[in-house]
Amino acid sequence: MESVQAIKQRFGIIGNTLALNRAIEKAIRVAPTDISVLVTGESGVGKESIPKIIHQLSHRKHNKYIAVNCGAIPEGTIDSELFGHEKGAFTGATATRSGYFEVADGGTIFLDEVGELPLTTQVRLLRILENGEFLKVGSSKVQKTDVRIVAATNANMFEAIEKEKFREDLYYRLSTVDIHLPPLRERQEDIHLLFRKFASDFALKYKMPTVKLTDDAIQLLVKHRWSGNIRQLRNIAEQISVLEQNRTISAEALKSYLPSSASTNLPAVIKTSKSESDFSSEREILYKVLFDMKSDLNDLKKLTMELMKNGNTKDVEKDNEHLIQKIYGDDSEDKDDIAFEEDVEDSPEYLSIPEHVNEPSTVDKYHFAEEIEEEETLSLHDKELELIKKSLERHHGKRKLAAAELGISERTLYRKIKQYDL
Ligand SMILES: Nc1ncnc2c1ncn2[C@@H]1O[C@H](COP(=O)(O)OP(=O)(O)O)[C@@H](O)[C@H]1O
Ligand SMILES: [Mg+2]
Repeated sequence: MESVQAIKQRFGIIGNTLALNRAIEKAIRVAPTDISVLVTGESGVGKESIPKIIHQLSHRKHNKYIAVNCGAIPEGTIDSELFGHEKGAFTGATATRSGYFEVADGGTIFLDEVGELPLTTQVRLLRILENGEFLKVGSSKVQKTDVRIVAATNANMFEAIEKEKFREDLYYRLSTVDIHLPPLRERQEDIHLLFRKFASDFALKYKMPTVKLTDDAIQLLVKHRWSGNIRQLRNIAEQISVLEQNRTISAEALKSYLPSSASTNLPAVIKTSKSESDFSSEREILYKVLFDMKSDLNDLKKLTMELMKNGNTKDVEKDNEHLIQKIYGDDSEDKDDIAFEEDVEDSPEYLSIPEHVNEPSTVDKYHFAEEIEEEETLSLHDKELELIKKSLERHHGKRKLAAAELGISERTLYRKIKQYDL
């Protein structure tokens, strides 16, 4: 039997809390049987890896694994999706179609958000669980299938049963074994570990040095309520990795990414739907992103204008030290990480060129970069081409000099030359 640690490594699961280890151990134990499993836990706690572990460690691993999000399929089509339909069963059913339960014969089906299933579908599901039998929509021919079912829910199933939205018999059938994943706030010792893992993943993805938290910031991170759990932590790690120029993150900087009402240790308020405050904090984040992007774009435009006016990159570099520092950040730390400047140069499709190249007085116009239009991209394309051509001419085809003048790496210039067939 594979150990809990080996499984965590294989499925990319980070954390060492007792409750997490227990949940994984339970999944390993139950995997070789055909017992139905219900995975419970708040949204974002990592429920989706449990059915994968169960399938991979079972004798079904060479057959299909199908994950179905029951909450995302419209009520009118869910029966047909799950069980298939006969030709002519309803308008638009032009051919007979197999459902997931037929396709996954011999394999595993993961029913995510199972609490969202309509009552009629629940009846069909109960029959499959009891004797493996089902009917296609519009058919009276009983079919058989051999499917292992793992379901998951973040809803309070007892409440749903009480309100007669979920069948009690189905609930007990599905939850022969219950695997519960604790919320992130109950796994405090894993929080910083997870953050470091995500920060390092995003550093690699976006080719930037890894962000690091100060001690104060770590405290703040660990104390946060994380109502969106690991999904929320991952999103915030991504935002910080992309947006923060200073790669050492202070508590102050971190605070601006955390929804303020939730940064205390107040008891949990169970929300069933998105509240207004969730949307407003999302909006705030978006505003911040847009605002920072605008500001970066304006800085870049100023810098490019300087480069075009003066040509000599050394002087421009000296005169605009603060701007360069602001845009590209301080990469004096993290020398071991991937070279930041090189990659920033590499990423834009086009060089950033102000619209009126020959009118230095228009610099002030670029305080707000408001219009980003298709046309501009096209003319930018032409201007870039012209700029590269001229620079190469001026330097008699010497790429090194032209690249220095354009403020890009030789590698980027080489790519552009190929791109424009120069
Ligand atoms: N222990 C963990 N280690 C690393 N990543 C995790 C862990 N748990 C969850 N994640 C990540 O968090 C996100 C949400 O997980 P998911 O399984 O979709 O949550 P749920 O289904 O419970 O809402 C996914 O991107 C997942 O990869
Ligand atoms: Mg999920």
